[in-house]
Amino acid sequence: MTLPSDGTVASSSLGREILALKKRLNAVILAHNYQVPEIQDVADFVGDSLGLSQQAAMTSADVIVFCGVHFMAETAKILNPGKVVVLPDADAGCSLEESCPAPRLKVLQDTNPNFYTIAYINCSAEVKALSDVICTSGNAAKIVRHAPMDRDLLFVPDENLGAWVTEQTGRPMTLWKGNCYVHVEWTHAAITRIRREHPGAPLVAHPECTKAVRMLADEVCSTEKMVTWCRKCPADAIIIATEAGMLHRLKKECPGKLFIPAPTDHCRCNECRYMKMNTLEKVLACMQDLRPQIQLPRHVLERARLPIERMLHVSSLPEDNAG
Ligand code: 13P
Ligand code: SF4
Repeated sequence: MTLPSDGTVASSSLGREILALKKRLNAVILAHNYQVPEIQDVADFVGDSLGLSQQAAMTSADVIVFCGVHFMAETAKILNPGKVVVLPDADAGCSLEESCPAPRLKVLQDTNPNFYTIAYINCSAEVKALSDVICTSGNAAKIVRHAPMDRDLLFVPDENLGAWVTEQTGRPMTLWKGNCYVHVEWTHAAITRIRREHPGAPLVAHPECTKAVRMLADEVCSTEKMVTWCRKCPADAIIIATEAGMLHRLKKECPGKLFIPAPTDHCRCNECRYMKMNTLEKVLACMQDLRPQIQLPRHVLERARLPIERMLHVSSLPEDNAG
């Protein structure tokens, strides 16, 4: 969703410098829904992985400042090999990406030549280059419905998202055993407790949560769909089981509603340490230095582009057009 820059951040000296430099570089600032509020507020576009890929695919900017994690910036580079793509902190990784090294995926793929590999976008460019199609949490069920019926589906790397998609589509899949270290922190017991404290508040959960949590939810969806769902929902208080950054976006888009972060059992575990590596200072620094830049070998860029383009194509088809 394209949001107007927030007055306060844009008028701070850091914000003003970023906006002036953005103009000079002909840059676009793309930010994920989990970024800290001050980054969301200077961004041209704030959204989920699908929305960010769609924006990256259509931008006419010369420089893409990608405020998210590494695999997201890589996706933007794959779609724009000729543009400069910078990420404020090069170490902003993802536990799902780490769980699935490309050589290990290749070994598994070689055990069954009939595998059709569907890779959740939270994976490295090398894993994308080994895949048939990419999906995000916003389009995973649709992508699976369009997968060839005569192939054995292999879904990597998030076993929770994969299991949820099988529940939606009825298509069995071999699941890679990866997970998001943030979303598996919510437990059935902690969610049951918060629901008892707020009996009228529905629960919205991300599909990276475990089944024990998903089964308690009124809605399971991507971060972007959370915004539309919460806007339409008549309740004035809603419990949110996803990364804490989402609350800023929800409060901005649904003024007047109370958003209750779902509690974890032991710690303040609803913040992704990778997403939170980016700061407004690092946004300015990466625009001044044009570093760290995403660089990928040409063969990876070329091969990884095909499954991403397939995803964007399937995503653009009408809902009932499953082949
Ligand atoms: P979305 O695509 O729903 O924004 O999710 C991305 C992500 O990393 C969730 O942890
Ligand atoms: Fe990866 Fe989880 Fe962080 Fe999303 S929240 S970037 S899936 S570690």
